Amino acid sequence: MSKPFIADHPLIQHKVSILRDKNTSSKQFRELIREITQLMVYEATRDLPLRDAVVETPMAVMTGKKIAGRKLAFVPILRAGLGMVDGAVELVPSARVGHIGLYRDEETFKPVEYYCKLPGDIHEREVIVLDPMLATGGSAVDAISQIKLRGPKSIKFMCIIAAPEGLKALGEAHPDVQIYCAALDDHLNEKCYIVPGLGDAGDRIFGTK
Ligand code: PRP
Ligand code: URA
Repeated sequence: MSKPFIADHPLIQHKVSILRDKNTSSKQFRELIREITQLMVYEATRDLPLRDAVVETPMAVMTGKKIAGRKLAFVPILRAGLGMVDGAVELVPSARVGHIGLYRDEETFKPVEYYCKLPGDIHEREVIVLDPMLATGGSAVDAISQIKLRGPKSIKFMCIIAAPEGLKALGEAHPDVQIYCAALDDHLNEKCYIVPGLGDAGDRIFGTK
């Protein structure tokens, strides 16, 4: 099991603090999620292989580098993961996007799946699963199990705030999945919300309650 990547970049930490603030508007919340996702995708794509590429600049011909054709897919977990898609796709426009719909049952806190549509060529792709919150880990474990049934090349999981309980559950269920998070919080409360966290990510993105 690889150690989770926990972002220590000042820009990420600054933006996460504004995101957590209960007075941050939905508009600003969505913008921050997009920006933090881009900074995290930058980290999660560090291992993309490069190939030499000849480029003619206005001054000379030189050999530069280009990404060596590795194919990616982003899979947001609905709803809140949708807030991370635009930022990710802006950085990797060739990526495909799949969707997994899950919600947590309010009494059992277990995920209930209601939608799954993944790219047809997922077996040729490296998947990055997107969800801002990793609380008990139930939703992430379930989503990744669904994706694994379709045989992708590899899977990474990217969230903004993780609880220790979620990291443990996901690491035990899927030790092959590298986890990226922008912040590691203290604990879950009795309703399985992350403390200090940021509240309900889906509600804050979409302005619902
Ligand atoms: C939230 C969040 C994760 C899940 C995390 O979704 O976006 O998907 O909870 O909790 P877990 O780690 O304990 O499974 P929610 O179920 O609230 O659905 P929503 O995004 O549609 O609001
Ligand atoms: N889902 C959220 O949106 N927030 C939490 O703190 C836990 C699960």
